[in-house]
Amino acid sequence: MTGRWVAVGSIDDIPRRGARCVMNGDMAVAVFRTADDRIFALEDRCPHRGGPLSQGIVHDGCVTCPLHNWVISLESGRAQGADEGATPAFPVRLQDRVIYLDLTPDLATA
Ligand code: FES
Repeated sequence: MTGRWVAVGSIDDIPRRGARCVMNGDMAVAVFRTADDRIFALEDRCPHRGGPLSQGIVHDGCVTCPLHNWVISLESGRAQGADEGATPAFPVRLQDRVIYLDLTPDLATA
């Protein structure tokens, strides 16, 4: 894999239902691992008031923000339920247990 894909570490560095942050310039990106070993990446910034999503609870393909309990989809970065807003989501690939992110800005969700 070449070009825009950036290796950011091993899936084994992240506990199940946990997250770890990587920096993309000034932006912290939270890389999440679900209970069934899927990996997702979102800007580490809740669309509500900027809470650190990397410190939230991972469940059912979502993360619950630690500040006011908004539930954010790990796949789309969108707030669920009645809440509105989205945080940028980044494409992820997993190859030989190494996590690669495409950190190209996504203007559709920025
Ligand atoms: S900052 Fe995340 S729910 Fe308020």
